Amino acid sequence: MVEMKVTPWTVEGEIDYKKLIKQFGTAPLTDKLIDEIKKHTGELHLMLRRKLFFSHRDLDWLLSKYDSGESFVLYTGRGPSGHTHIGHLVPWIFTKWLQDKFDAELYFQLTDDEKFLMNRQLSLDDTQKFAQENVLDIIAVGFDPKKTKIFFDTSYAKTLYKIAVRVAKLTTFSTAKAVFGFNNSTNIGMAFFPSMQAAPCFLPSELAGKKVPVLIPAAIDQDPYWRISRDVAERLGYYKPAQIHSMFLPGLQGPGSKMSASKPNTAIFTTDSLDVAEKKVMGAFTGGRGSLKEQREKGGNPNICTVYQYMYYIFEPSDEKIKQMREDCKAGRVTCGECKQRLAKYVIAFLKEHQKRRKNAKKNIDKFLVKD
Ligand code: TRP
Repeated sequence: MVEMKVTPWTVEGEIDYKKLIKQFGTAPLTDKLIDEIKKHTGELHLMLRRKLFFSHRDLDWLLSKYDSGESFVLYTGRGPSGHTHIGHLVPWIFTKWLQDKFDAELYFQLTDDEKFLMNRQLSLDDTQKFAQENVLDIIAVGFDPKKTKIFFDTSYAKTLYKIAVRVAKLTTFSTAKAVFGFNNSTNIGMAFFPSMQAAPCFLPSELAGKKVPVLIPAAIDQDPYWRISRDVAERLGYYKPAQIHSMFLPGLQGPGSKMSASKPNTAIFTTDSLDVAEKKVMGAFTGGRGSLKEQREKGGNPNICTVYQYMYYIFEPSDEKIKQMREDCKAGRVTCGECKQRLAKYVIAFLKEHQKRRKNAKKNIDKFLVKD
């Protein structure tokens, strides 16, 4: 068994989310807190109801600020190392929901510098090109152009740098080593980079000339960045940024197969044709038995089934239907082929709509991008 390892660059082994909360020192997203959110939003997004978002830091504080009339800004991002897949869209879709419900501004960072520094195979030109592509997917999610600023690190560096150097000055290499696992062969660009990812936590305050609360929706692997951001925040005169953390969706090849741009069959990319997407779903890892006979007799295992997880966390809003799907699976009343077909229908409908909006996004880029 591969031991669990979660850093911003590697997610390995079977993930024990309870253990991760302890390891990282975050707080579980309790039902009580979810109720607090509901008081403001009236309804709950599926990803909250089903707890794909499962952990947080200071979300209770953020909501009480909001209660007392201090609105917050959202901040999230993307490392442009390849094309966008459905797994990337998950936190963005949730962020868009938060933007709508809380009428919040959003800052969206594309770390073309990080992916260049981190990845030996990628040139700066490559990561900038991927960023140009990714931006279309971000816009396609439907963010409000009046309330959303998207930027690439390399073309917004002048603004970010002034904050980043102040973060960097207060962060020792020994902290960075402990938090990120850096060592003597880490390039010095990477040693500095975390302060670039910290900078947007404080940018809204800089621009407003007063302390502004910030909420970061992101997968939990990004948490190390927020640890150093929180560490320096008050010394620099800002609020600590709050976070809401999501789990990872498994790759289509099953638990432990991360969705990966370098292994196209592990993920559905937004640029895949509908045919290709359907084939990928039909080839997904399930919790089914070796033969139909055995499946009918013993039933399948939804707990390890990627098809079930995609339905549960993203595509099947009806509690009734998802419960039925689970029970039918366990009782052997449904085959994996049937479940895959159900998922494929949802995926194709989603992708069709997304691709239409993505095409449309091209003419709207200037409404979103900010540069120095
Ligand atoms: N480091 C992130 C990645 O590799 C990109 C990123 C930058 C980000 N700022 C963020 C992600 C804020 C979430 C929230 O994908």
